[in-house]
Amino acid sequence: MIELAPSILSADFAHLAEQVRAAAEGGGTVLHVDVMDGHFVPNITIGPPVVASLRKATELPLDCHLMIENPDQYIPAFVAAGADWISVHQESCVHLYRTLQLIRSHGAQVGVVINPATPVETLTEVLDIVDYVLVMSVNPGFGGQKFIPGALHKLRKLAELRNGRGLNFRLEVDGGVSLQTVGEVVRAGAEILVAGNAVFGSGNPKTNAQTLLKAALEATLQKV
Ligand code: DX5
Ligand code: ZN
Repeated sequence: MIELAPSILSADFAHLAEQVRAAAEGGGTVLHVDVMDGHFVPNITIGPPVVASLRKATELPLDCHLMIENPDQYIPAFVAAGADWISVHQESCVHLYRTLQLIRSHGAQVGVVINPATPVETLTEVLDIVDYVLVMSVNPGFGGQKFIPGALHKLRKLAELRNGRGLNFRLEVDGGVSLQTVGEVVRAGAEILVAGNAVFGSGNPKTNAQTLLKAALEATLQKV
């Protein structure tokens, strides 16, 4: 099943609730929340207080993508604020297995993320303890960047590994997902499509989400 996860990074933060509602009306079923600390990535965004406000503003699951150092220190606060899904970067976790177990112990869905330069093989030992794998298709830190095509073979490889090992994790992709790239992303196996600029960048988030989702669903029909 394909799901659209609108990323609020490109939303108008002064009208967040309204924008989130519009994206949900357009078919968004998961809300992607980008958390950046100015250390792991060169940008600063939001923390648990905004997640707590979002929790009151929408019923969509909140997918918190932690682009931060020392995520273990903040995972409890994000869960307490209302995060339903939490993903951490392989690159930011020395004790990745422990961090993923920590997310699980707090009752959130467990995700692991890899940057464009990180091979899929770095995840071999954790694939059986995650609910989803997030493949970055841009360098994390900013919205509205160009899709990096190397993400496609990583998605294919993860889908193969999953089938070969009989695992159930889902595949999420993040960065540069647009009407131009969504087809190949879906055909490569992505199931949860994060989209910031394509939904909130310009125009109406509701129709933007509808158009993107329609293109994604059409691509699944062409999938061989
Ligand atoms: C980038 C973030 C993304 C970002 C994607 O570091 O992780 O979630 O919002 O934005 P677009 O869809 O504009 O590439
Ligand atoms: Zn993200």
